Amino acid sequence: MNLKFKKPSKETQMAMSMVASGEDNQDYHSLAEEKLASITNHRYAKLFNSGNSAILAAMNSIDGAILIPDQGAWNGFKQIANFLNKDLITVKTNKGLIDLDELNESIILSSEEDIIDLDDENNKSALFLTSFAAYTAEQDMKAICDFAHKNNILVVEDASGAIGDYENRLANGNYSDIIIGSTGSPKIVNVEDGGFITTNDEGFFEKSKLLLKTNKASNITASGIYNELDFAKDNLKKTVDSCLYLKEAIEEKTSFNVFHKDKRGINVIIETDDPKSLSYKLRQEFVLDSHGMITKCPNYNRLKEKAVALEIKNLDIGCLSQDNLDEIIKTLKCFEDEK
Ligand SMILES: Cc1ncc(COP(=O)(O)O)c(C=O)c1O
Repeated sequence: MNLKFKKPSKETQMAMSMVASGEDNQDYHSLAEEKLASITNHRYAKLFNSGNSAILAAMNSIDGAILIPDQGAWNGFKQIANFLNKDLITVKTNKGLIDLDELNESIILSSEEDIIDLDDENNKSALFLTSFAAYTAEQDMKAICDFAHKNNILVVEDASGAIGDYENRLANGNYSDIIIGSTGSPKIVNVEDGGFITTNDEGFFEKSKLLLKTNKASNITASGIYNELDFAKDNLKKTVDSCLYLKEAIEEKTSFNVFHKDKRGINVIIETDDPKSLSYKLRQEFVLDSHGMITKCPNYNRLKEKAVALEIKNLDIGCLSQDNLDEIIKTLKCFEDEK
């Protein structure tokens, strides 16, 4: 099994090195921002030097409280909310997936405690979540956004794993008020560096003007994002299809249980009684250059369950062949006693 860690496409590597060497002097910021906004169906986009910088700027622009899922999101949400001294409300989920009844409960409770003001248009709170819970199960963004908007709450979708959704259900600015993302490694727009925000509300950037300036993406990164966006759809589709195949085959052919087995995602999370031992053993089997593809749970960014995540998203799409996927299943079968 020849597994390789995801790299930017050859075209993107070439484009970035031309800018780095000074052979290409074009400013790529507005070109990349225009392309990005058209992909997310938003009017405006801004580039940042990392995903966390984009989250910092987005959160800084929110006047009210910050709501986050209790698992399956990104720990930067919590850290940055704390750094900005924001009121933080953790919403119970169904293993990372937003449950509208639980969300409603949290909103009512926070409103009774005066943490959220449901009527003040100038003090809106925001739900921060990732398009895929734990990178493994797509959120119902349309239903979540409809519900949040009825309650005067903004939705900030971290689409690091879902930009370019070919089904138009995720990373879609017709639903989410604000879309943020990392274009670092190994993401769907895989440039090794950078991040972004898109929105229809230009005033949103006004509040974080200084952060936009201090955390601006370099022109090398901007040229990378501009080029790599062309590969996002294909990257995402191949990764999601591979995960759907793996989820079904692991359930059928091994004794492991898969979390969210029918949902689209870009990794596969399997249940085990001994995550420490299984993750150690799988790390020896799945070696990709100097990087790995195994995450041990419980883990806030994945699931708070005894489990191991196979990060298919970390793999170069060139190695997502039928043979390699079948080899992954065969390898897992050897560790069934670790279930
Ligand atoms: C979902 C998600 N959001 C944000 C980030 C942070 O991105 P960056 O490393 O570019 O700051 C990551 C990093 O892995 C992530 O997985």
